[in-house]
Amino acid sequence: MINIIDNNLKAFVSDKEIDIQKDKAKKAYSQLISRGYKGNDFLGWLYLPKENIDILDSIKDRAKSLAKISELVVVIGIGGSYLGARAVIEALGNSMSYLDYSVGNPLVIYAGHHIGEDYMTDLLSILDKKEYSLIVISKSGTTTEPAIAFRILKSHLEEKYGKFESQNRIVAITDKSKGALRTLADNENYDTYSIADDVGGRFSVLTPVGLLPISVAGIDILELNRGALDMQKICFENQDFENNLAIKYAVLRNALYAKNYKIEVLVNYLPSLTYLTEWWKQLYGESEGKDKKGIFPAGVSFSTDLHSMGQYIQDGERHLFETMLWVKESNSELKITEDDANLDGLNFLSGKSINEVNEKAYLGTILAHNDGNVPIIRIEIPKLTPYYLGQLIYFFEFACAISGYMIDVNPFDQPGVEDYKNNMFALLNKPGFEDLQKRLLERL
Ligand code: PA5
Repeated sequence: MINIIDNNLKAFVSDKEIDIQKDKAKKAYSQLISRGYKGNDFLGWLYLPKENIDILDSIKDRAKSLAKISELVVVIGIGGSYLGARAVIEALGNSMSYLDYSVGNPLVIYAGHHIGEDYMTDLLSILDKKEYSLIVISKSGTTTEPAIAFRILKSHLEEKYGKFESQNRIVAITDKSKGALRTLADNENYDTYSIADDVGGRFSVLTPVGLLPISVAGIDILELNRGALDMQKICFENQDFENNLAIKYAVLRNALYAKNYKIEVLVNYLPSLTYLTEWWKQLYGESEGKDKKGIFPAGVSFSTDLHSMGQYIQDGERHLFETMLWVKESNSELKITEDDANLDGLNFLSGKSINEVNEKAYLGTILAHNDGNVPIIRIEIPKLTPYYLGQLIYFFEFACAISGYMIDVNPFDQPGVEDYKNNMFALLNKPGFEDLQKRLLERL
């Protein structure tokens, strides 16, 4: 079971301050479970692990059939339509998989999550030489970045394989009835999966949005879902700080926020967790950052970033706290070798595993940053497996909903992301945006 350690916080928040947040969390919990508060038409994610049980095998079969004909599978999507899959695939996949893939054992790569022209050009030149398939994901079916990428990749695919074979190499995941992608997929006879109306993008990793790409990458989605289901049970059956990890995390981070710690830095100690941090940043940033409220979510990878951001965290302005993710056991063991000459003076490490050294970096950093007055919440994960990652995903989602309600925002909408889109469309001469364009051009 994943676990939270909070014994470093005593110097930063009092028991009384924690109690105030516990009361808020209690209220938030009942608002969430009774489905009676803000954004309550977006709570479908709460029940996904239980509901998924019937569909996991069919997702697995479709993933296998895509894998069977592909060296590369391109996942086209942005925000919640790609970050969850990427987080899990990078956390659990082989770190060197980009050097070792083949038909039947494809590499999952990504497109449509930015508007970089050189990236797309480079991608097309690789796809010229590889067997590939596409998974295009957009809940709304109208998001510009993935729509542009899909337009280009679809045309490349059809040129390479012909229209008929291409239909077999495209899976679309979108709304059940609305949006341009749904219309296109139905017209072209693509295989499709629907995203339920009541599951928002950033809460969709445990739907086909995440599960299909994750399964294509060879990761056991039954185990992932089993971990999420166990966490779902814990979150539903316990309402208290001690036994509900999600409540505990929401209480601790809000107690710190109330003391003016406005930045939360999610710290990992493994490069494979970089995209888990990206997924978490989206989940918390887009859910809480509204109405001029919300903790700013940031992320670092240690020990890499101890050689860059570490200085600021140790010694810069005191407005941040860290949430450290520590994975207790590695999936493999590699020991440091003895060297006769010992010119680097490191023979005292001979026979120790790399993870033992990493653990001392973790513990040493906790103590150093505490000395630098940084509050630290510790989340410990027994091992990086699909099961524990499933637990972690559901835990973070549940805690995010509780935390959002605690600061009284709607954690399930994202009104703020529309502004740039409207400006972009106006500047691109989209019909209907003429007035806005005029106003914008005067300001540029
Ligand atoms: O969490 C969200 O809702 C967003 O980040 C969306 O996932 C993102 O904007 C992509 O939207 P769509 O799936 O509609 O293309």
